[in-house]
Amino acid sequence: MWKIGLVGCGNVGLGLLRILEAKRGDLENRYGFTYAVTGVVDPFRGSVGDERGLDVAALLAAADGGKSFRGLGDPIDLDWLLEGRANVIAEATPTNLVDAMPGLDHIRRALAAGCHVVSTNKGPVSLALPELQALARERGVQYRIEGVLLSGTPAINLAGEALAGCDILSVQGIVNGTTNFILTRMEEGADYGAALAEAQALGYAETDPTADVEGWDAAVKAQVMANVFLGQSLAVDDVERLGISHLTGADIDAARAKGCRLKLIAEVERSGEGVRATVAPRELPLSHPLAGVSGAINALTFRTDHLGDVTIVGPGAGRVETGQALLVDLLALNR
Ligand code: HSE
Repeated sequence: MWKIGLVGCGNVGLGLLRILEAKRGDLENRYGFTYAVTGVVDPFRGSVGDERGLDVAALLAAADGGKSFRGLGDPIDLDWLLEGRANVIAEATPTNLVDAMPGLDHIRRALAAGCHVVSTNKGPVSLALPELQALARERGVQYRIEGVLLSGTPAINLAGEALAGCDILSVQGIVNGTTNFILTRMEEGADYGAALAEAQALGYAETDPTADVEGWDAAVKAQVMANVFLGQSLAVDDVERLGISHLTGADIDAARAKGCRLKLIAEVERSGEGVRATVAPRELPLSHPLAGVSGAINALTFRTDHLGDVTIVGPGAGRVETGQALLVDLLALNR
């Protein structure tokens, strides 16, 4: 029985709870996956726990009604969960790219306590991935991060498992849903501010959307691509980065006049002894495979030795879509 402690219950945390609740029977029948959500820690909705498992439907009803979780369990904190009341922590607090807190502290403490961690939080990945991977190894647990790239669309697990044995030479793609959504809406005639507001309302954007539009989110994803796909640790400042906030309708029209579309492209490739990582808007001819990837959809093309190019296309952001990434990591632990 998986005893799940959820830390951070915003868009993604609720997405996970919704899937767990809707699929409880199915998860048990198809995968032998049984679970109790023993606690939820969230500074805004309240932190509650029950060793026998919280009533997830009641948590979702409270969230839908804009109510606090107070009264749906005993008051708890992360320490309560780490004293043997959780064997996996799902960490989904907002990404903070400055110092990665509080997510980094949560993940360090959970791994040190011998809990597996599944997380969508990009701050700790950006600032401390090698440290956290080493800590997980030392404690004999796993730190799984499928959701930091392409939300629930398989990317990290795809490369690690389905492409095992191939050398990955470079990876190029669209890795930020918000900016791709904004560029698509601008092509349709919307203005930048309205398109950004729409992306926020749909739950695609970061809590601080500057991270999306200035290319920081994509730069962190390029870091992850370099680390996980090419085995090269980079700092976020090693990624050459340009976002989309300077682009105007005139830039979109100029690209269109050339038979092109503007896309924010992240790329990592081997270069000499190291890896070069870039994020920048590029004008792609309409015939380019990434030119037709619209809205919050993301795509990655892996250039490999045995298979040539392998491209994966799918959602890159969203509540349930990112909740699915946490679920797939939970099911991997279960296997
Ligand atoms: N803000 C991110 C995006 C969320 O728009 O892609 C998914 O990482």
